[in-house]
Amino acid sequence: MKKVKKAVIPAAGLGTRFLPATKAMAKEMLPIVDKPTIQFIVEEAREAGIEDILIVTGKAKRPIEDHFDSNFALEMNLKEKGKDDLFKLVTEITGLNLHFIRQSHPLGLGHAVLQAKSFVGNEPFIVMLGDDLMEDKVPLTKQLMDNYEKNHSATIAVIDVPEKDVSKYGIINPGEEIEENLFNVIDFVEKPKINESPSNMAIIGRYLLTPEIFSILENQKPGAGNEIQLTDAINTLNKTQRVFAKRFTGTRYDVGDKYGYMKTSIEYGLRHPQIKDDLKQLILDLGDEIRKQKKKVKEY
Ligand code: G1P
Repeated sequence: MKKVKKAVIPAAGLGTRFLPATKAMAKEMLPIVDKPTIQFIVEEAREAGIEDILIVTGKAKRPIEDHFDSNFALEMNLKEKGKDDLFKLVTEITGLNLHFIRQSHPLGLGHAVLQAKSFVGNEPFIVMLGDDLMEDKVPLTKQLMDNYEKNHSATIAVIDVPEKDVSKYGIINPGEEIEENLFNVIDFVEKPKINESPSNMAIIGRYLLTPEIFSILENQKPGAGNEIQLTDAINTLNKTQRVFAKRFTGTRYDVGDKYGYMKTSIEYGLRHPQIKDDLKQLILDLGDEIRKQKKKVKEY
């Protein structure tokens, strides 16, 4: 059995939910407090034991490449000034086996993953979406890899979402729960209507796929939103080989829209050694203020 050593991070999206901030800047570089979101993803891959990462980029994404490269002038400057902590921060993420390819036509997630065909070759591999930050004792990517070692099958991470949200996600029609939180899947459906959704179990941004997905993607017709959907290709893959769904029981932070991004920033800020005390105080003060305002409204 081949070991899982490679990961693909699609990062060619236009980031329209964050305009104008993303007009000339990659949304993957938006920081959570002080770390670009894509760095969290790369760190999760590294922690899981992934050896090579391909980032699929597009227009305005050069800063991603620069971020993971060394910055000699900055490093010298920090060294000379004795700022060892900052030196460590900027150098610890360089020197990874990162590869880049451009997706010239953003035709959908399935099309982005197809760009990884020659990088991946004939091996199982991981796909990680940058909008989802995952926290658990064992990184979710590693959980999928462990499952592959046991079952030799593609495995897709899912969570339960409120019914009203199903049309934002790829949804599974779960079959039997073969062990705790591991499901056979009958169908995968991309962004179903609420009243047509087979369940409320939504695909989140971690996939362990087998290389057979590529020949399916090559012939994949556009689906939801007129885009080439990875979910549709996985549904076809599931007809010829078993694809599992693994329910994630850790914490997922959705940084793909403004509210999720703000919420995550606040939660991470409350753990950040430099700002946590001030931020906590600010939140307490704001809470008091909001309660006072609410009381006033009631008194009228
Ligand atoms: C993509 C996938 C979808 C998945 C979601 C998870 O959708 O197509 O199946 O549920 O990511 O975040 P997007 O959010 O890019 O529209």
